Amino acid sequence: MNIGVIGSGNIGANAAKLFAAAGHRVAVSNSRGPETLGELVRGIGPNARAATVEEAAGFGDVVMEAIPFGLYESLPAGGLAGKIFVTASNYYPGRDGEIDHDGLASSELVQRHLPGARVVKAFNTIYYERLRDNGRPDAPLEDREVVFVAGDDGEAKRVVSGLIEEIGFAPVDTGTLAGSRRQEPGSPIYNVPMGPEKAREMLAEMG
Ligand SMILES: NC(=O)c1ccc[n+]([C@@H]2O[C@H](COP(=O)([O-])OP(=O)(O)OC[C@H]3O[C@@H](n4cnc5c(N)ncnc54)[C@H](OP(=O)(O)O)[C@@H]3O)[C@@H](O)[C@H]2O)c1
Repeated sequence: MNIGVIGSGNIGANAAKLFAAAGHRVAVSNSRGPETLGELVRGIGPNARAATVEEAAGFGDVVMEAIPFGLYESLPAGGLAGKIFVTASNYYPGRDGEIDHDGLASSELVQRHLPGARVVKAFNTIYYERLRDNGRPDAPLEDREVVFVAGDDGEAKRVVSGLIEEIGFAPVDTGTLAGSRRQEPGSPIYNVPMGPEKAREMLAEMG
């Protein structure tokens, strides 16, 4: 699969490395331009290339963003129409400024900005060091650390869940984009390492 990555910092770079190691081709991008991504791309190896944001969006069958949430309106809506689009960003008012969510989850704001994209919220609840280090592709799903997923497009969610499994984690579905509030900062499951059994128990308790 071709995977475009928008934002190649802690989360984006580590996700790109894991996707490439699983045999996918990745195009990584950031705010400063492809010329600043040579070291990262060389470190990932032949499955990686550096791109502009627009090129990464065009390249991916799946495109993932891991940028400060406050900048989501910079995502190129036209280039992402029809794409499976993973949003990993979290809203932190101290970093992002006050953003009126209009009663919506952060992922719904992203979906509203990208009306043609098939948005899936994932990778936002796992600290990057655990993403980097804890994947266990050879372990049974029940013994792996969870990565939560939410979305309104069932097929898009299945594709992203498949990628999560390939890189050694266990996807657990929290429901729709509206329901992705349950995996936002401040929730009991946010940034807490756990396996799928515990995750399902906690989601049931949260209602
Ligand atoms: N850190 C974590 O453990 C963690 C875990 C889960 C989710 N998250 C969320 O994921 C997002 C990224 O976090 P991070 O820790 O990976 O941040 P980070 O290390 O600061 O990396 C951010 C990346 O986004 C790029 N970027 C900034 N504005 C951009 C734009 N308008 N277009 C394209 N790329 C842009 C930056 O490019 P430059 O390098 O060129 O500035 C950088 O590559 C945040 O929303 C965060 O809340 C973080």
